[in-house]
Amino acid sequence: MKTIVILISGRGSNMQAIVEAQLPLKIAAVISNKPDAEGLAYAQAKGIATAVIDHRPHTTREAFDQELMRCIDAYAPDLVVLAGFMRILTEDFVLHYSERLINIHPSLLPAFPGLATHRRALEAGVKIHGCTVHFVTPVVDHGPIVVQAAVPVQRDDTVQSLAARVLQQEHQIYPQALRWFAEDRLRIQQGQVNVRDAATLDTALRSPWEKS
Ligand code: GRF
Repeated sequence: MKTIVILISGRGSNMQAIVEAQLPLKIAAVISNKPDAEGLAYAQAKGIATAVIDHRPHTTREAFDQELMRCIDAYAPDLVVLAGFMRILTEDFVLHYSERLINIHPSLLPAFPGLATHRRALEAGVKIHGCTVHFVTPVVDHGPIVVQAAVPVQRDDTVQSLAARVLQQEHQIYPQALRWFAEDRLRIQQGQVNVRDAATLDTALRSPWEKS
């Protein structure tokens, strides 16, 4: 069975969705850069090892990333899963985990990389918004896309209502992407992800407002 380590900074609802999906994966540890991340208590209650590498005492981004790498590598994961990990990672870190580092971003990339995606989507007046699971490259919020889910933007949406609709989909597609990883079905070829035997793609990618 493949092993993953999950990195969080806060609430950890994506981490929770991954744990609850009971995937054929060993979750070796949940690591946070924030000692007070709410998600840590959930992981501990589930008997998952947790660690905190606080970024604040580190004077450089490089020093923090090096320590984080040491902590992660002690668990020898096949994949490092960023789940609301709110740190920009150095190129050294990203290249160290080349094709073994995956992220979820709350927009339909390549639209709206960076922060405040829901506010920016509302300001842009887009009619469709969503979320993306992608492998990580040194360019922030960029990299081979594994799966996306779209949601409609409604006329009376607020940042909160739109974020909640997107988050529901995040909790579907992240476990889905990791299930494919667990089943060894993901291949990165020329910067794109192919999912082998993707019969389940149909259901994963069906728009949520479509009747099944
Ligand atoms: C999610 O919206 C994720 O896409 C973004 O940060 C948020 C984290 O939420 N990167 P949670 O900690 O998983 O609840």
